[in-house]
Amino acid sequence: MSNIVIVGTQWGDEGKGKIVDLLSKNADIVVRFQGGNNAGHTLVVDGKQFISHLVPSGILQGKICILGNGMVVDPKVLIDEIKALSNIGIKVGPDNLKISEKAHIIMPYHKLIDLEREKKKGDNKIGTTGRGIGPAYEDKAARTGIRFSELIDSEVFIEKLKIVLDEKNFDLEHRFSAPSLNLEEIIDEYSIYAKRLASHVTNISVIIDKEIKSGKQVLLEGAQGTHLDIDHGTYPFVTSSNTVAGNACSGAGIGPKKITGVVGIVKAYTTRVGEGPFASELFDETGDRIQKKGAEFGATTGRMRRCGWLDMVILKNAVRLNSLTGLVVTKLDVLGGLPSLKICTSYECEGKIINDFPSDIKTLTLCKPVYESFPGWEEDISGITQFAELPENAKKYIKRIEEITETPVQIISVGPGRNETIMINNPFNE
Ligand code: GDP
Ligand code: IMO
Ligand code: MG
Repeated sequence: MSNIVIVGTQWGDEGKGKIVDLLSKNADIVVRFQGGNNAGHTLVVDGKQFISHLVPSGILQGKICILGNGMVVDPKVLIDEIKALSNIGIKVGPDNLKISEKAHIIMPYHKLIDLEREKKKGDNKIGTTGRGIGPAYEDKAARTGIRFSELIDSEVFIEKLKIVLDEKNFDLEHRFSAPSLNLEEIIDEYSIYAKRLASHVTNISVIIDKEIKSGKQVLLEGAQGTHLDIDHGTYPFVTSSNTVAGNACSGAGIGPKKITGVVGIVKAYTTRVGEGPFASELFDETGDRIQKKGAEFGATTGRMRRCGWLDMVILKNAVRLNSLTGLVVTKLDVLGGLPSLKICTSYECEGKIINDFPSDIKTLTLCKPVYESFPGWEEDISGITQFAELPENAKKYIKRIEEITETPVQIISVGPGRNETIMINNPFNE
């Protein structure tokens, strides 16, 4: 039996949604264990696109989907997403969508504070998604957050909200010169959400444990990427949760011995949305070409993604931090038609060669990429489903990734659809 964690290795948007949808076929349960609707995971099935922000990407394969305790959930966004799924014929009920009673709720003041804080920071902004993620995790750590178990108990909810809102309104008015929020309005709005979602709220740790014991397989779906991790990413230009595989256990309420494999998704080049250092970023025609061909626009905010060459310093960092047992290379098709390709193999910083990803932002900002060049390929590879049929130069590119990371490439994605995939070794069959 296999229980697999899937994580992004770069700065998010690696194509996790497509791969989770694909591999969910082999799983019985799919769990999101961190983040919130800052995520935008794109699934393309029969040519139709669906972007999930909260519901795990296993939903279109008819699997049991779980929102883990490590998440911060905006109930309105979740209800809207359930409606959108129902509009495309996917029935979502308490049997196939379960929410941890310990998951935290995103409140209206979290979103306002996120936006106001970014405004105040001006040029030093992080470039957050503005969804209230950071402020919600702050409240979790400050022990003033509201969890699902409290949302669905109106007495507890009102009592807690009264105290918290007092503090938040003070901040909104006096620190941000923004209008304060009305207690009654929030209670009215959130009591509707509580009623709608109460039947989904449960102890997910107990459920997952029972299912694993009865031989079921679990897929744990990461959001964001390793270099947006609150500890290991390009701090402070990160998100507010641990995105690395280790957090799959605490964020879903399962022990580490249950995990049998960790798969890292890596885009064949690198992208980043929001601010922060990006050593292999391209500011030239090649960068524009990749951005256009890869349709690199954020699935959540629609912002244009910054593009650059594949960075092996960050990929090796992701292999170590997540104990990756396999890699999935996505969007290899996008590199077709470029006369030559580059891979960043180390950084040069003030005359020194750096092989390990630096921890501090000052050093990172000074890092210049050291490249290895490869000849490109002209062919359109989007119809290819066998590794042997790839152009020789594409094969060499993949082999070099395996060599440098000492990690096998198990899947290559050559298009957004389920079939546009080269399955070398399904992680669930190991
Ligand atoms: P996620 O956040 O990691 O799930 O990734 P996103 O959904 O934000 O961004 C990935 C984008 O690339 C989506 O628009 C996908 O449909 C698309 N995509 C995924 N894999 C491939 C691929 O192999 N080739 C191409 N051309 N597009 C892909
Ligand atoms: P998926 O799951 C790419 C980025 C934001 C910003 C930083 C902090 O689709 O890969 P936040 O709103 O989390 O406080 O923003 O993190 N970010 C993402 N970038 N993909 C994501 O998710 C992201 N989620 C957050 O752009 O730079
Ligand atoms: Mg995304």
